[in-house]
Amino acid sequence: MKKNVFRALSLFLCLVACQVVTAQENYEFILNTKKIGAPVQSTMYGLFFEDINFAADGGLYAELVKNRSFDFPQSLMGWNIFGKVTVRNDKSPFERNPNYLVLSPSGHAHKHTGIENEGYRGMGFKEGASYRFSVWAKKLRGDGEQKIRVEFIDSHNDVIGKQELVINSSDWKKYTMVMPAKATEAKGSLRIFFTTQGSIALDHVSLFPTDTYKGRENGLRKDLAEALADINPGIFRFPGGCIVEGTDLETRYDWKKSVGKVENRPVNENRWHYTFTNRFFPDYFQSYGLGFYEYFLLSEDIGAEPLPVVNCGLACQYQNDGEHCHVPVGELDLYIQDALDLIEFANGDKSTTWGKVRSEMGHPEPFNLKFIGIGNEQWGNEYPERLERFVKAIRAKYPEIKIVGSSGPAAEGKEFDYLWPEMKRLKVDLVDEHYYKEPDWFFNNAARYDNYDRKGPAVFAGEYASHDHANKKQNSFLSALSEAAFMTGLERNADIVHMCTYAPLFAHVDAWQWKPDMIWFDNLRMMKTPNYYVQQIYAQHKGTNVMTLTTKEKKAISGQGGLYASAVYDKDQKSYIIKVVNTTNVVKDIAINLTGVKKSTTLSVGECIMMHHDLKAVNTLDEPQNIIPQKTSGTIENNTLSIKAQPQSFNLYTIKQQ
Ligand code: AHR
Repeated sequence: MKKNVFRALSLFLCLVACQVVTAQENYEFILNTKKIGAPVQSTMYGLFFEDINFAADGGLYAELVKNRSFDFPQSLMGWNIFGKVTVRNDKSPFERNPNYLVLSPSGHAHKHTGIENEGYRGMGFKEGASYRFSVWAKKLRGDGEQKIRVEFIDSHNDVIGKQELVINSSDWKKYTMVMPAKATEAKGSLRIFFTTQGSIALDHVSLFPTDTYKGRENGLRKDLAEALADINPGIFRFPGGCIVEGTDLETRYDWKKSVGKVENRPVNENRWHYTFTNRFFPDYFQSYGLGFYEYFLLSEDIGAEPLPVVNCGLACQYQNDGEHCHVPVGELDLYIQDALDLIEFANGDKSTTWGKVRSEMGHPEPFNLKFIGIGNEQWGNEYPERLERFVKAIRAKYPEIKIVGSSGPAAEGKEFDYLWPEMKRLKVDLVDEHYYKEPDWFFNNAARYDNYDRKGPAVFAGEYASHDHANKKQNSFLSALSEAAFMTGLERNADIVHMCTYAPLFAHVDAWQWKPDMIWFDNLRMMKTPNYYVQQIYAQHKGTNVMTLTTKEKKAISGQGGLYASAVYDKDQKSYIIKVVNTTNVVKDIAINLTGVKKSTTLSVGECIMMHHDLKAVNTLDEPQNIIPQKTSGTIENNTLSIKAQPQSFNLYTIKQQ
């Protein structure tokens, strides 16, 4: 009897489940092809880079040695030393990185002298790949040549690469050699034995893979940089974030210290080393090896407009309470000059002071900078009164440069309401908005910009990410889907939203402070999150003009029936691109009627892409392809596109005109 009841119940549940799976709802939308709308800016979708989560040192910057010039506050942090090794700071070749090491025999034939570096949570080596080792060195004592033996060590303490280097000069000199690795290892280290009897000095011990992005010597990790290029970003904001402000002004990001000879760029504290005591990283510093020149170069390489952000005379306002922590308004000259000099560094010709610096670094042509951000997440009247001075000076000298101001750290509230009118008063060109919110906020705010003032500055959604708290703030498919839904609203309002960038960009799996993040990596591998693919789909299909896509009642599609949709036209490709997000658990049968199509024009379906998965699903380094864009389809007849949007899916359809 019990068995029969159980069977009947199972059958009933199965029927209900089948109904849910097959349930469909029908919708009709209108795309008016006669109304080609506002241009979509080339800068619309981009990237925001900050050295957080080991994004620069230990991440994108391909240097494998941590504390390469022994100038961290603890000069041997990251290093083990053995035998007779001393730290000195007299007669260094690099005045802003004064420390160096002296290696001498220990006095006993069996006690070796040398040093080893642990890298950034280990060093990644790939079998068959080659690495460029370099060191500044000189002989201090001893006849003839002095020698070191450089070794790559795996996590079992076995040698997986070995080569000897001769130090033959009594003057400081850079020595370089290329070494192959015989095995793959994610947690390796670098060991150096001093093998002769004199004594030597070493400084700036460096190791890069030779296969960096674009093959540059002071280069970037190829897989990570390529992932950025593959997005097709239109704007690249750098170097942060909170690190622009600094915990105090002393530790703010100072772009002038990040250019010039790489060996002489001073180490700076990274505020993310202590921002969260539950994610504490006392070995997190900024080498500035990835500095402003490299950021400009990367922008150029990936085809994005550079958007540098400079400090406005305010230290991080979360961490500093009171005027005394900041630069007095009347004493901002140095900071304003830094902003002006930055524009000269980017755009000035060789005859200018800073244009010359850029040119001598290898880029005689200007970088063609068009935008500059003044301040990051600032608030209170402290901000506009400082910003005003910057605006005046920049407008006077560089009227063509567009200025980005801040609306504070939140998407709404007192500071936000105060700052937007101030930004209008100061006539900045764009206002940077930040929102790190729950998925529901993103669903509920997709129409955020529909009624924004069209007369003021444009919007730069400069930092945003959906934080799926219920799913431990992982980069879940739900978080990506909610961003995709929200972005239909960005796209629909591209007349006023000129830029948007997800944040943060990178995170090392063993050294992160903040999540979610767009790309995760370890020392060898990289994983693109579903959020990455959402950004990529938008950026690769941004079109050239906004199109009006509505319900039959002429309403924007923003949540009705759990659907979100937007459309653009691509003049160059002669195609319409429609994005549809279905947030429900039923299939949506949608007919999109393209009105106003000329009789002589034939429409056909082109590329169709879909992302569809369990809401809790994530990608991992072991399963990076769990959630990736797939092909989908649609049919077109009588100028009507018919699609079936799968439950919980983000879909893109291209319609070609002939
Ligand atoms: O993206 C992480 C941080 O979030 C940024 O540094 C800051 O601007 C914001 O508070």
